[in-house]
Amino acid sequence: MNEHEYPAEDKNKVPKGMIAFFLFVAVFLVAYILLYTPAISNWSYYKIYEESMKNAQATAPIEEVKESYSGDDWAIAEGAEIYASSCAVCHGADGAGGIGSSLISEFRYGDSSEEIYISIADGRDGGMPGFRQQLSDVKIRKLAAFLETLRD
Ligand code: HEC
Repeated sequence: MNEHEYPAEDKNKVPKGMIAFFLFVAVFLVAYILLYTPAISNWSYYKIYEESMKNAQATAPIEEVKESYSGDDWAIAEGAEIYASSCAVCHGADGAGGIGSSLISEFRYGDSSEEIYISIADGRDGGMPGFRQQLSDVKIRKLAAFLETLRD
């Protein structure tokens, strides 16, 4: 036999590791199909989702709804975020005004928390849109608490 000859066919075997890998993949695929086909194993992502929703509802802390969040640091921080995303376009990042009126000088419609609530929830005639649809009661009250800090 000289060195340029090809090895005989019976010596040209598939490596054992290759066969083992092929078997592993085949077994894995069959197991996967059996386990995760709803019609075979009854597995369903909806079930998992519904269960986790149930658990989430059971454990979620019930947020205390307060009449006023004045001075509540967490509420004010949340109010500041809502302000930046919903109000700053018109009233300016610092509340100094722009398209919207200034929120750091005297309030035309009153600056009690109830009057501010009405300004935000129902809007005002001079171009202030109402936010009742977009913002929950609690969010509007947190915003009002944040607005107070702008004028301090
Ligand atoms: C489309 C622009 C616009 C957006 C967005 C907007 N405002 Fe206004 N806002 C105005 C205008 C204009 C006025 C002045 C209305 C008037 O004088 O009748 C006003 C008035 C107000 C007033 C009453 C001020 C006063 O003098 O009594 C408050 C409070 C207020 N806005 C808060 C907010 C808050 C909080 C947000 C975000 C949730 C917001 N606004 C979003 C335009 C806007």
